[in-house]
Amino acid sequence: MSGRFITLEGGEGAGKSSNLAWLAERLRDAGVPVTVTREPGGTDLAERIRQVLLDPGPEAMDDTTELLLVFAARAQHLAALIRPALARGEWVLCDRFMDATWAYQGAGRGLDRERIAVLERLVLQGLTPDRTLLFDVPVAEGLARAGKRSRPDRIEREQAAFFERVRQCYLERATGEPDRFRVVDAGVGLDQVRAQLENHLQEMLQWR
Ligand SMILES: Nc1ncnc2c1ncn2[C@@H]1O[C@H](COP(=O)(O)OP(=O)(O)O)[C@@H](O)[C@H]1O
Ligand SMILES: [Mg+2]
Repeated sequence: MSGRFITLEGGEGAGKSSNLAWLAERLRDAGVPVTVTREPGGTDLAERIRQVLLDPGPEAMDDTTELLLVFAARAQHLAALIRPALARGEWVLCDRFMDATWAYQGAGRGLDRERIAVLERLVLQGLTPDRTLLFDVPVAEGLARAGKRSRPDRIEREQAAFFERVRQCYLERATGEPDRFRVVDAGVGLDQVRAQLENHLQEMLQWR
């Protein structure tokens, strides 16, 4: 039996991490075997690549270097964690995945789409999430929430215009793939976010 692959996407402070554990618990309560993970990262090696990606070191990171590190972490994550879990029949809940690369490195950094597409084919080999929950929040609101959280990492130091491009890219992708995406209005209170997620959960539980 093959499991299901569910990704959570959205900008900084949208509420992905806050709702990931809750979603996992709700699925486990329904008897679904769940593996929770995140990108970049998810395995020991991929988490070490994450540290390199997020640490604002003294040397400016070249955009192509960033892109290759993102995909290096993803290749490891897929080989060592995601594909084996799916093969065991588990549902994999992943905090960010391929859409984040299109949004951050594509729209945000302005990297050439064909270069991203080549790496997507190489690394994913056709694997697509069964469902992607897009947590959509106005940029200013998301940044205000994230700012209360911790010291900004290398990506969080970008300007508001960068995050606007990220947000618009995510929304365009959701419009382009309505079967895969569900857009969550994440600019409202947590109770109202959970009410929307509950609907999406019930829809996913119909898969079984
Ligand atoms: N619906 C919400 N309303 C208000 N604050 C929220 C909401 N969802 C999350 N937060 C808060 O915003 C901050 C960022 O949330 P988080 O889940 O870490 O976002 P993300 O993982 O998408 O960056 C956290 O402090 C969290 O408690
Ligand atoms: Mg998070």
